[in-house]
Amino acid sequence: MTFQTIIVEIEEGIATITLNRPEVLNALNDQVFKELGEAAAALSADNSVRAVIITGGNKVFAAGADISQMASSTAVDVATGDNASYRAFQILETMPKPVIAAIAGYALGGGCELTLVADVRIAADNAQFGLPEIKLGILPGAGGTQRLPRLIGAGKAKELIFSGDFIKADEALSVGLVNKVVPAEELFAEARMMAKRFASRGAIALQLAKSAVNEGLRMDLEAGLQYEHKCFSLLFATEDQKEGMRAFLEKRPAKFQGK
Ligand code: CAA
Repeated sequence: MTFQTIIVEIEEGIATITLNRPEVLNALNDQVFKELGEAAAALSADNSVRAVIITGGNKVFAAGADISQMASSTAVDVATGDNASYRAFQILETMPKPVIAAIAGYALGGGCELTLVADVRIAADNAQFGLPEIKLGILPGAGGTQRLPRLIGAGKAKELIFSGDFIKADEALSVGLVNKVVPAEELFAEARMMAKRFASRGAIALQLAKSAVNEGLRMDLEAGLQYEHKCFSLLFATEDQKEGMRAFLEKRPAKFQGK
């Protein structure tokens, strides 16, 4: 897969998507959103890919949507445009496999919002997070006002959205914005280790577990519990369920085939 603004590499069933606009701190323009959507769709369809890491490399994750592209937009442009970030983030968020964001340096605005569509966020100890859109006279428009409160609660999300202030990795960990903070030099090894751990589990069970959590968050509790039960029941039709339980009873590691 060849792109202009991102790099996609696949190694041992783990795909890594790297944002690649270092001259503007990986600012996200429409081309990046388009390519992220295309890459996510292709990786979703590739059964050899078991987990995905998304990163900006070891200096910066992304400093937000590309301000130079937005500066001269009118309300009509924005309202009638193709909402590239929304479409790309929908595809990324619903990928049927685990997505891990590996974050070094700034994850701001649309960059922070991109981390929120991942299933798990691992931060380097030099990472900084923020939604500075308010300082530009706008608000977070790529899911920040919706996904962030769902992840960390409305109070802390509003503080970040209203102030535009940045928080460091340790505070991001303490408010639940990231799952883990590691020394910067260990970021990619840690992300790969987690991706491999996920990839060793049954692929269909992973897919349905992700769907149960994500879809459940959109439903009331009763509907979510019923949806969970449907996903749970469906797994009893898989060979992985037979293998997983047989392996437990035979006291050996399970060998999942994703079937
Ligand atoms: N868009 C376009 N270009 C950007 C950019 C962005 N979001 N962020 C950085 N750049 C560019 C800078 O203009 C600069 O380019 P030049 O070398 O041509 O001048 C280059 O990247 C390096 O940036 P700085 O010189 O500013 O680097 P710094 O280390 O001094 O500061 C920073 C780093 C604090 C991240 C600063 O660049 C900054 O504040 N960036 C903007 C952050 C921001 O406001 N993000 C929100 C964007 S709006 C959004 O995301 C909307 C949404 O919800 C979808």
